Amino acid sequence: MNQLHSLILQEIQNTGLMTVQRFMELALYHPDHGYYASQKVLGREGDYITAPELTQVFGELLGLWFVDLWQRLGKPEHVQLVEMGPGRGLMMQDMLRIFKKFPEFYQCLDVYLMEVSPALKSTQQDLLKDERVHWIPDLKELPENCVTFFVANEFFDALPIEQYLENGVELRIDAKDGQLVFTNDMVSIKEKCLAYAPYMSEINRRLLKDRGGALIIDYGDDVEEKNRVGDTLQALCRHKSTNVLENPGEQDLTHHVSFVALKEFMDPSLKTTLSTQGDFLMSLGLQEWVEKLCVNADAAKLKTAATRLIAPQEMGFLFKVLTIE
Ligand SMILES: C[S@@+](CC[C@H](N)C(=O)[O-])C[C@H]1O[C@@H](n2cnc3c(N)ncnc32)[C@H](O)[C@@H]1O
Repeated sequence: MNQLHSLILQEIQNTGLMTVQRFMELALYHPDHGYYASQKVLGREGDYITAPELTQVFGELLGLWFVDLWQRLGKPEHVQLVEMGPGRGLMMQDMLRIFKKFPEFYQCLDVYLMEVSPALKSTQQDLLKDERVHWIPDLKELPENCVTFFVANEFFDALPIEQYLENGVELRIDAKDGQLVFTNDMVSIKEKCLAYAPYMSEINRRLLKDRGGALIIDYGDDVEEKNRVGDTLQALCRHKSTNVLENPGEQDLTHHVSFVALKEFMDPSLKTTLSTQGDFLMSLGLQEWVEKLCVNADAAKLKTAATRLIAPQEMGFLFKVLTIE
């Protein structure tokens, strides 16, 4: 039993049954024993691989999307790009490589990385030694009155969710003989993520006030809330699916993002478009980009990674892209 498990048992003993949301908050964000307090969460040696960890193609194409948006907005003199949950910083490194190819854009740009994990922040600081890159703990710290671009890849899936039974009663976690167990069977579960609100409301406020755009990529669906039933909470450890309640703080916990819920925060005057990751990357010219890169790089490796991004049976369909302008 790890230390966080003992702390959770103690909290249940002191205050009663624990909600899934509270369990996730502790398992992910406990300052000493939470998952994001540890260093090795991402990449081949970590628990899972994300698109930017797979290939530079992903971040480079997203970078091109932002350059295009800046042009369509009439080339504002100053823009800030904020990445929410930048992981090891690879995606921003790939985006900056593209931005430098457009000096007029690069000169206008400030980059802000919003990161909760001290360990990952330090990894990002080692990788991104660029005077235009700054770190913020929260979106509220972003300077006001500046055109703002937002990007988030696999950020929202990491936020804590609430789970409810069919009768509306919240699912809870109990302690039995030192083990953590759910109080009910996981049938007909409804999920709600209150944690989307502060981020999405702030994106909405900024885009309405200062203009800009957002690109939100995650695994999830666009099923209406009334039809959305099922337990999507999952745990991953060393690339294997594991028991959600085991080894808290030592495994990644995520949920399927509800893009319907994310979109609800947006004012109707903002244009939202949802695509599959495969369609979105193809529309940005993934194939042509890969062919171009193949001249200087290991072509077979690059093509395999790019295929994983777009193939429907891999990340191409499960992952969605929400654009907001
Ligand atoms: C699943 S990782 C994705 C990393 C990266 N975007 C990628 O695609 O490789 C989630 C990232 O979000 C960060 N994160 C999670 N919750 C956060 C929060 N509430 N505030 C800021 N960063 C957070 C994590 O530390 C990590 O960097």
